[in-house]
Parts: sequence; structure tokens; C-alpha cells
Amino acid sequence: MNFELSEEHLLIQKAARDFAQNELKSGVVDRDSNSAYPYQGVKRMSELGFLGMTVSEKYGGGGMDTISYLLAVEEISKIDNSCSVILSAHNSLACWGIEEYGTENQKNKYLRPLASGDKIGAFCLSEPESGSDATQQKTIAKKKGDYYLINGTKNWITNGEKASLYVVIAQTNPEKGYKGINAFIVDAESKGLTTGIKEDKLGIRSSDTVSVMFQDVLVPKENRLGPEGFGFKYAMKTLEGGRIGIASQALGICEGAYELSLEYSKLRKTFGKSISQHQAISFKLADMATDIEAARLLIYKSAYEKDNNKPYGLSSSMAKLFSSEIAMKHTVEAVQIHGGYGFVKEYHVERLMRDAKITQIYEGTSEIQKIIIARSLLK
Ligand code: CAA
Repeated sequence: MNFELSEEHLLIQKAARDFAQNELKSGVVDRDSNSAYPYQGVKRMSELGFLGMTVSEKYGGGGMDTISYLLAVEEISKIDNSCSVILSAHNSLACWGIEEYGTENQKNKYLRPLASGDKIGAFCLSEPESGSDATQQKTIAKKKGDYYLINGTKNWITNGEKASLYVVIAQTNPEKGYKGINAFIVDAESKGLTTGIKEDKLGIRSSDTVSVMFQDVLVPKENRLGPEGFGFKYAMKTLEGGRIGIASQALGICEGAYELSLEYSKLRKTFGKSISQHQAISFKLADMATDIEAARLLIYKSAYEKDNNKPYGLSSSMAKLFSSEIAMKHTVEAVQIHGGYGFVKEYHVERLMRDAKITQIYEGTSEIQKIIIARSLLK
């Protein structure tokens, strides 16, 4: 068993770290305060080859493995979680499924521009009345000759406004339940497709999260992904991979807060010594470092399983559950370690604490991860 990263992994990690520290950090507090989209950050992620990095070279992607992608997400998440969720949703939720289940025509037409980073993709599953219980799709894709006619509303769509392409999950045959659900590639320019106003969020405030509305949107039948009725499984398989990305985001958040706390606690003095010399603080740091290491091992194991064509649904849910829980817990502690300074924006930990919360919610809440884990244990 080898726990060491390869030379190539170390280079990707360094590139992502340099990008986050040198290019994202300086403006992140302002972007967060103003919910300002990170245009320059996204442009640079495209130039650095991070958008589409796991898509095979055959379709113009980086052909990198899952660990490489997770290292990029982790490093960027230490600083800017709006950028890392844009990256994660694009790679895991939009690109992956098209490459895995798309036809050659779909890949050449739609995956290539995503893989090169020229265009951004989004994944539309959640609805006003269908979040955790994803089988209850109210968006309808009715067959009409050589087309499907899509009507409905999707909520909480990351990249929803900036995407030029959506993977949309919709119900075609309600009488068949989840077996009647399909997945479609929908062009953002489609007539009848509109987006709502940007949500004013607790965290990941710069990323673009909107509702996407479909009113009589005609989608050619060749844009259906996979066989008829495959849409629910398409979504579930997509989320299995997506959850490793969110686990890495949570890991990055936790590490970012830990690194700031370590540095601050060595500098800050009370009662005649650095606060790091008080056990009340050093024990918190020890807990953080231990949990970070445990989360990393869960995440890398899941990535290993994914890259080696082994089932990874259980490990990805475990990785997401554990990493998001520790991110929330330790970012609260990081604010505590910083005292009053932790409560103000320029010290960064309060933003990481706010960003941590969404990792317990999106791509399946912690409770959903427990359902998946428990079912796997009990089946
Ligand atoms: N892979 C393949 N097939 C799967 C699967 C998987 N991981 N999970 C379920 N299925 C299949 C089942 O085998 C079953 O098919 P068969 O009858 O043919 O065997 C079918 O799907 C139905 O499965 P279940 O009976 O298990 O379905 P369920 O309704 O009981 O619940 C659930 C499943 C795991 C709770 C699921 O609904 C779920 O994951 N919910 C959470 C949804 C979610 O994560 N939403 C997040 C939105 S995306 C987002 O947040 C994006 C963003 O912006 C960042």
C-alpha cells in the first residue's frame, strides 16, 4: 500500500495551491461580501486545465485521474469555495456522465467545449418539491415526435446562470415511477429556458446558484443520455462521483481553517505564552489534524476505487459524510481559537465556517449519506 502522491500529483497540487494562494486569496473577502462571480478565477481555472481535467484527452480534456482532480478541489477550497464548487459541479456533475453514458455524437458536440473549459456545464436534478427524495421529479419531458418537450423548474442549480449546457433530469412516464425518468443534454440557448435571480446565500456566496425554468423547451431525442428510463440511475451514478468532490471541498475547508488556526495560535499570546501552548487550544489543533488525516484517507480510498473500476458508492458517501461533518465542527472551533478576530471577515475563518455548512447539504445531506451507508451495510 502506497500513501505517497506521485510526482505528477504533487505538481498538480502545487499548481492549484499557487493559484489559490496567489490569485484567489486577495479578492475572496470582497467577492464573498458582494456575492460577486469569480470571472477571473474561472478563466484561470480554464487556462490551468482544471475545467475538464478528468475528461479523456480524446475529447480534449486533461485525461487526469480522480486524485488529481480532488487535489485541485482541496487546494482551491482552502481559499475560495465558490471557485471550487464551480469546478466540482462542472467536472463531476456535467462532464463525467456525458463521457460515461453519452453517445459519440454527444461527446463530440457537447463534451468537447466543456472539456476545454471554453464552456461551463450544470446539472439540474433538485426541484422545489424534490430534493432528498429525488425520485419525485415534477419536471416533465413529454415525447413529441423526434423531440421531448420539457416543462418544469429546477432549484439550487450551481453554474445555473453561467452554464451553456445543462444535464436535466425529468420525468417522461410518471406511471413508471423512477423507471420513467430520463436525463437530457439541454442547450442554454434553447427557447423557453430562463434562469431566476441569484440566490443570496450563507456561504459559497460568489458562485452562481439559481433556479432554471423550462417552459415548452424542445430537446431533440438524440440529446437523451443513456437508454429510455435510465435518468434516475444516471443521476445516482453522477452523484456518487460528485460526492467525492464535495468531500474534498469539505477537506479543503477544514484544512484551510486548521492552517489559519495553527498560525494564529502560535502568534497570539495570553497569560504569558502563545495560545498554542494552552492545552485548551492545542487539543483542538490535535483533533483537527487527526480528523483531516482520516478524511483524506477516506477520500483517497474512494478515488482509488473509482479509478480502478470498483464500486465506490459506499466509500464516496462515507467520505462526504465524514469530511463535511468535520469541516463544520472544526471551522466553528477555528473561529473560537481566533476569538474576536475570528468573527471578522479579514481573518477568513468565519467565511470558511459559513462555506462548510453547504457541504452537509448539497449532493445529498448528511442524513442521505447515512441512508446510503446503512442500506449498504444492511442489504
Ligand atoms: N447507482 C445505481 N443505481 C442506483 C443507485 C446508485 N448509486 N442508487 C439507487 N439506484 C437505483 C436502485 O438500484 C433502484 O433501481 P432498481 O429498482 O432497478 O434496483 C433505483 O435506483 C431506486 O433506488 P432506491 O429505491 O434506493 O431509491 P430511493 O428513492 O429509496 O432513494 C436516495 C435513493 C439514495 C435517497 C436518492 O434519492 C438520493 O441520493 N437522494 C439525494 C439526492 C441528492 O443528492 N440531491 C442533490 C442534488 S445535486 C446538487 O446538490 C448539485 C449541486 O448544486 C452541487
